[in-house]
Amino acid sequence: MLVEKNVPLQFSNTFGIVAKALSLVRIASEADIAAVLADPALKSVPKFVLGGGSNIVLTGDVKPLVLKIEIPGKRLHSETAKAWIIEAGAGESWHELVAWTLQNGYPGLENLALIPGTVGASPVQNIGAYGVELQDRFLELDAIDLTTGQSFTLNAAQCAFGYRDSVFKHKSSAGEAASTAGNPGFGLADKALITKVRFALPKNWKPVLGYADIEKKMAQSPVPDGGDPTAQQIFDWICEIRRTKLPDPQVIGNAGSFFKNPTVSNEQCADIIQREPKIVHYPLADGSIKLAAGWLIDACGWKGKSIGNAGVHERHALVLVNRGGREHPVTGGEVMTLAKAIQTSVYERFGILLEHEPVVV
Ligand code: EPU
Repeated sequence: MLVEKNVPLQFSNTFGIVAKALSLVRIASEADIAAVLADPALKSVPKFVLGGGSNIVLTGDVKPLVLKIEIPGKRLHSETAKAWIIEAGAGESWHELVAWTLQNGYPGLENLALIPGTVGASPVQNIGAYGVELQDRFLELDAIDLTTGQSFTLNAAQCAFGYRDSVFKHKSSAGEAASTAGNPGFGLADKALITKVRFALPKNWKPVLGYADIEKKMAQSPVPDGGDPTAQQIFDWICEIRRTKLPDPQVIGNAGSFFKNPTVSNEQCADIIQREPKIVHYPLADGSIKLAAGWLIDACGWKGKSIGNAGVHERHALVLVNRGGREHPVTGGEVMTLAKAIQTSVYERFGILLEHEPVVV
């Protein structure tokens, strides 16, 4: 096992923030984790699991031991009467997995095309876009308990998925017992390392349409016989939509949506609509209302603004970007200063506190 020292992380986080991992071990297999956990000097030190770095803000050098996940593999694991079961290693690129499933005739992930990051990170925040969330296609995952070295498998209910949320985003509270295989029962942040994820992709596939952006694409290039578009067609449209609206992290550093879309009660929403009739809002099944955070930030005049080298994207106010490029990259401090300024102005105008999506390290 090689423990690398002072490893630059600028190209391991999609913001392109400059920081170092004081120590880093690359994890390409379960045996690599076992080696770390068997090492007397490493087994009890704090650890930080790094995937594609697409949902983090680094505010300094990373002191915990960084476990850089590089576990490979994409395969048809098995099939049931209703679904293809696809298994992927945590270190695979998410978008490459989506493309691979379509090339191999397993549709179902096409609405989640072009989301940056790795397969192992996808359940952590239950990634979602254009009407599909990871939990809709998820079967189970394998993980390793970083304190005991035990492997365990979790199904969707055990992952406790919510909107951009799961058991992996919550810390266990003090006094709770160690995890028991398959029944974590509490937060697993910093405790579990996801090694493999299995998806159930429906044999009876139906397109998920209905989002305004997709409907627009359908109107522009209707399917000749008036039938449904194919999964590949939807994949291509989603790639085009995302490339038009969202900045490519290879070109301008960013971490996707920086804030979650807040939910408010019906009464709160009615109150805001009285003052702000144009507010973009979507009713949810439970009676609450989701508001578009991008609209709220845009309405406060932030689109295109900067603080230092941290900026608000010109085309989508929900995305904070690195305006300094690779030469003078934004710092994590600048990103968080801008994020706080945005939170304050949205709070002052709408009385809503926006919650950030990325993990601040
Ligand atoms: N809007 C504005 N101004 C802006 C940005 C957006 O007025 O600057 C309005 C839009 O016109 C639209 C509404 O806000 O009416 C919502 O915008 P959009 O359709 O782009 O979706 P979103 O709610 O901003 C969410 C996800 C995205 C996902 C898209 C598509 C969150 C936090 N973000 O964005 O996920 O791709 O829906 O489903 O839920 C990500 O998490 O990194 C991400 C990109």
